[in-house]
Amino acid sequence: MGESNISGEGQLADLQIPQHIAIIMDGNGRWATQRGLPRMQGHLEGHKATHRVVEACAELGVGVLSIYAFSVENWQRPAAEVTGLMGLIEQALREELDDLHRNNIRFIASGRLSELPASLQRLIVEAQERTAENPGLVLNLLVNYGGRAEIADAAQALARRVKAGEIDPDHITEELVAQHLYAPQLPEPDMLLRPGGEMRMSNFLLWEIAYSEIVVMPVLWPDFTKEHLIEAIREYNRRQRRFGGVTTDDALP
Ligand code: IPE
Ligand code: IPE
Ligand code: MG
Repeated sequence: MGESNISGEGQLADLQIPQHIAIIMDGNGRWATQRGLPRMQGHLEGHKATHRVVEACAELGVGVLSIYAFSVENWQRPAAEVTGLMGLIEQALREELDDLHRNNIRFIASGRLSELPASLQRLIVEAQERTAENPGLVLNLLVNYGGRAEIADAAQALARRVKAGEIDPDHITEELVAQHLYAPQLPEPDMLLRPGGEMRMSNFLLWEIAYSEIVVMPVLWPDFTKEHLIEAIREYNRRQRRFGGVTTDDALP
């Protein structure tokens, strides 16, 4: 499966590191409200947690980190919060880009990017181009992303190819659908992590998480640390993945 192991880090040495970790970064608003602060303050603290976790994933040898920053449904929030979030995403990426590049991280973004503010679209293109050859962690930022939107966009792309006579409808397989998603080059997430305690998917990577191990943690995103990430990876290591089959222990002779 291509998972790597960390060596020389004491108790961590035996842990299998998920190749692809996907995170629903949730709980910023509650973190702020609990402190009598405006919600935007929670998003600013959430950015610090994102920085910590990206760094930790690079150190631990994670292959891909997908982070959910803004959903297609999040436009429904008050205009000030939407504007604040778009500004923060752009500012954070601008500030982090040198560091990402220096740490060999390859940046990509997934979502309906053409609906984002023009300045953010330009920055995303710049970040993707600048880091395209980097061999380290792939950081996949999900922004204006919806799982259903992604599947609908894939259906549109396939329909156009059928209309152009390039493919026969009978040849549309799961693999072909997957090839028309936003980031077909990525492996599917091994672990789906949701801080903030909510037991739902909120339209995140609906196709790709078919067999991901789900880990929900009560800690709010602004409080999330490398230790929480390691705790989640430990939980992942206790899971027995079967992909619909049987384990060798259970298998009848
Ligand atoms: C997650 O935090 C960040 C985004 C959705 C952009 P929330 O803002 O959803 O925080 P809670 O869930 O209200 O606490
Ligand atoms: C999911 O969180 C979206 C992001 C983290 C970007 P939400 O806070 O928007 O999800 P719900 O509303 O609790 O389902
Ligand atoms: Mg939320």
